[in-house]
Order: sequence, then structure tokens, then C-alpha cells
Amino acid sequence: MIDIAILGYGTVGSGVYEVIKNNQEIVDRKSGKHINIKYVLDLRKFSGDPVEDILTDDFEKILNDEDVKIVAEVMGGVEPAYTFAKKALLKGKSVVTSNKELVASHGQELIAIAATKKANFLFEASVGGGIPIIRPLCSSLTADCILEIKGILNGTTNYILTKMAYEGSGFDETLKEAQALGYAEKDPTNDIEGFDSVRKLAILSSLAYKKTVDFRDIYTEGITKITKTDIEYAKALNSTIKLIGESRLKGDKIDAKVAPLMIKNTHPIAMVNGVFNAIFINGDMSGDTMYYGSGAGKLPTASAVVSDIIDAARHVGVNIRIDWDDEKMPIIPLGDTKVCAMIRFAKKDAKTEERCVAAFDGADIIRLEGHEGEFALLTKAQNESDIKAILEKLGEEVLSFIRMEG
Ligand code: HSE
Repeated sequence: MIDIAILGYGTVGSGVYEVIKNNQEIVDRKSGKHINIKYVLDLRKFSGDPVEDILTDDFEKILNDEDVKIVAEVMGGVEPAYTFAKKALLKGKSVVTSNKELVASHGQELIAIAATKKANFLFEASVGGGIPIIRPLCSSLTADCILEIKGILNGTTNYILTKMAYEGSGFDETLKEAQALGYAEKDPTNDIEGFDSVRKLAILSSLAYKKTVDFRDIYTEGITKITKTDIEYAKALNSTIKLIGESRLKGDKIDAKVAPLMIKNTHPIAMVNGVFNAIFINGDMSGDTMYYGSGAGKLPTASAVVSDIIDAARHVGVNIRIDWDDEKMPIIPLGDTKVCAMIRFAKKDAKTEERCVAAFDGADIIRLEGHEGEFALLTKAQNESDIKAILEKLGEEVLSFIRMEG
């Protein structure tokens, strides 16, 4: 038997309890021993709930119980999650977590502590919810040099963009609807501004390229400026707009960003709709692989947490090696990366089109029926800073700027 503690009894925490209790026989068989939930830590009271008798608000009690070998941290946020995880690891307990803020901010340090203590710090649920993605990167694609990661890493924004595309609705009304249905949080900032996606991209990139990719160094743009009209243009171009997190190895640096991207409808990522996530990885030997599934939700996320509990139970006293050095991975400045963009311009006078076409050598022009007061240019691939410099010199009114799949 092995005793575990669950820190936090919110959506994911109660899901972890449910997965273990529902599938106890499977979980025990896969672990090779009985998994016993000894404590659930939460400051709230849950009278009448099955966890009532094992509920505690005292973390020290868990920390000092030598029988507790695995701690599942599912509280979210950096503190007190970081303090609790570090203390548990220093005591030689394994820690598993779904907390992307914690992993993106302190993952490397916690992995290193786990290694020195012959324990484990595992975080399958921190990216892509129920999608197996951390384990494939750490244990399956190990013979490859990873060249590229590209993915829809956030379910809330994918739900909003899908609705806008299929129902022709605007951003604000779709967000309100998503909030009413419980898909988007009351404060949706982390999702819609790309802050959630960028942490997930930093975690995947650190594991892929083996150096610390700091999420604060990655250019991040959310979906709040995407309009119905942008989506109409995308449709006319047989494309779809998705919030994409992507990084690419370029020598000893990477380029990386989170931003809306116009993708051809034939690309598999364009077909990922609703709250689903998908992550596309290109390795130098394996080529392309793609991982798809529920990127959020109580039971899918809890399933990934429990898979880590099982892994930790199988490896008591043995560290599972995770390559993630503390050396910082340099990121190429956004301006120095090559992009194609769709730029919508307001038609100020009869000569606006002529001036814009002349400024952007080789760009294609798109005119959309019902939008006579504007047009769009599709630029050739060039450094983003050059595109911005041309726009500044041109001085025309830009209605939107959306990067396009190369
Ligand atoms: N808010 C996140 C999403 C939850 O919408 O994908 C999972 O990290």
C-alpha cells in the first residue's frame, strides 16, 4: 500500500479523488500496490462529502507523515503551491501536479530537487489536460532532435474562435456565452490574452529543447482583437483563425510566440474545434506527430494527474529522468522572424490600394463583397520588423494584422 495526499479539493482535486475511487482496481493493478488517499488538504469544509473524514487544513501534518509518499498538488497558482511542492520534494516525497503556473515558473528547480532526493516531480496534466503530451516528449520522442512545436493549447479561446467561425458571432457576445456555459472563467484574462497558452508553450519548449524557456520572454498576443470581418476574410481564403502557440529550433536559439494565426483548412490543426486542444510536434527522425483531445475538464485533467500518481508509485526511490537544464534558451526577437501576414486597410481614397500595393512588393490583394470600404493585402514572407517599418512609413489606417501559416 502507498499513502497519498491531494492538495486542493476544487474541480481537479475532486476529479482526482473520483478517478481513483471509480477505477481503484485498475489504478492499484497498474501501480503494483494499493493507492490509499490518506489526506485531502483544503481550507474549506465539505460536510457530507466522502472526503470529510480525511480532510485537513494542516499541510505540516501531511509533510511530517512519513507514510505519505506522493502528494498531488492541484490547487493552481504559484503560491502556496510552490512552497508546498518544494517542501514535499525536500522531504523525499514525489509531487505530481496539474499546475502550469507552477511548472512554467519553477519546473526546472523542482525537477532538480526531485532528482537529488530520488523522488519525482511529474506534471502530465499541466499541458493539454487529458492529452498525453509530457510523457511522449520525455519518454517517447527521446531519439529525436525536436525541431518544432505548434499547438492549440487553450480550450476556452478555441471554443470562442470556433463559435465565431461557425455562427458568425462577434467576440464579446461569444465570450459572454462561453462564460454563461462555464467554459470561460468570470475573469477570462489568462485565457483570452494568451497567458495560459504561453505558460504551456514554455513548458513544452523547455522539455523539447532541454533548456529553460522563460514564458516572460515569449511574444504573446491573445484573441481579443479578432473580429467577425477577420473571420470572413479567413473563410474567403479557405483558412481558419486559431490561437497558436509555436516554437521552432533555429541553430542554438528558438523563435517562439503565442498569437492568432490564419491556417489553411487542409492543415489538421484547422480542424480542431470547440474546447479541444491539439499539439503538433516535428522531430528530425520521427517527422510529424500530433496529439489531440480534451485540453481541460475535471475528469480528463484528473486522469492525467492519476497517471502521474501511478508512475510515481511505480518509482518510489527511483527518479525518472527529465531533461530540462537551468541554462536559459535564447529567443530570437519577434522582429527578426519571417512571417506572412494578412493586413486589412481602410480605403481612405481612390489611391489607397495603389499606395499599399506599391509599398508591399509582391503582395496579393483581397477584396471582400459587402466590405467596400476596405481591402486586405497578403504579404510575402519577410521579417516582421520590415513589415512594421513599411506600415509605419505608409501611414495608412490598419484595421487588422494577422499572421498567416507560412
Ligand atoms: N483555462 C484552460 C483552457 C484550462 O481553457 O484551456 C486548462 O488549462
